Amino acid sequence: MAIRHFLDLSDAGPDALSAILSDAQERKSARAGWAKGQPDADAPLAGHVLAMIFEKNSTRTRVSFDIGMRQLGGSALVLDSSTSQLGRGESIADTARVLSRMVDAIMIRTDDHAKIEEMARHATVPVINGLTDRSHPCQIVADLQTVLEQGKALPGLELAWFGDGNNVLHSVLEAAALFKFNVRIATPAGFEPDPEFVTMARESGATVTLTQDPAAAADGADIVVTDTWVSMGQENVANKLGAMEPYRVDEALMAKAKPEARFLHCLPAHVGDEVSEAVFESGQSVVFDEAENRIHAQKSILLWCLGKL
Ligand code: CP
Ligand code: NVA
Repeated sequence: MAIRHFLDLSDAGPDALSAILSDAQERKSARAGWAKGQPDADAPLAGHVLAMIFEKNSTRTRVSFDIGMRQLGGSALVLDSSTSQLGRGESIADTARVLSRMVDAIMIRTDDHAKIEEMARHATVPVINGLTDRSHPCQIVADLQTVLEQGKALPGLELAWFGDGNNVLHSVLEAAALFKFNVRIATPAGFEPDPEFVTMARESGATVTLTQDPAAAADGADIVVTDTWVSMGQENVANKLGAMEPYRVDEALMAKAKPEARFLHCLPAHVGDEVSEAVFESGQSVVFDEAENRIHAQKSILLWCLGKL
């Protein structure tokens, strides 16, 4: 079997992603009421170890992969750039080759997407994208699971995105291409997503609308999504916060979506900036289900990468 890396959603494709989503929901249901660290009944990754490399901060990705590996019967360890030899200039290629002799899979969160591609070229175990400046595919599998859990079907879904056209939105567009749902994107001029993702989604049959009018994007939406206005490593963008002000998801904007619409945010949130407290704390907000689903979704991603799904 070819090594199953998970650098972007297209590495799995729609059939494998559907299997991942079903497995995630089955495993979540089967664990209802269990202690969080207790292994699943089948413990399919007993004896397996995941190495996690963090070149940026993380709470959810770090904890959900660690707990996910424990629930699958395996374990995880963390390397960060300040205390590993990566921080002293050891190459990605050598790090990939060394870790491949020691662990069963590698998860990496980094800045430049080229680094994760380099890791995948040299690793002989699966490499998983835990976020780069370009994309955040694990987040979007958890988001899709959350949308499905809310009783919504993916084909034809109207998803509206507000604020910054960033890495998380790129993975939303990849999912739209694979599952044929529609994305309305409201951003200030100059903060649109990479046109490569927009073109790819459109060519795959998704309808993608780019607008600077947040009300138009929200009108009749099933799912309303935003993310931080300033992503990690992009703190020096002048005048960005002012440009983002009209794109805050507040009660007035949410009222334009369908009454049964749900609000998603990958977290961490800056309540009062990209989302008002009223929306964040409302019954329409499913952000903590989304965070929990990182565990369930990534367990199934790990099983797929290791050929057990
Ligand atoms: N959503 C997400 O990836 O969170 P962390 O940055 O805490 O991992
Ligand atoms: N767009 C955000 C996502 C954090 C999970 C960032 O890159 O910082």
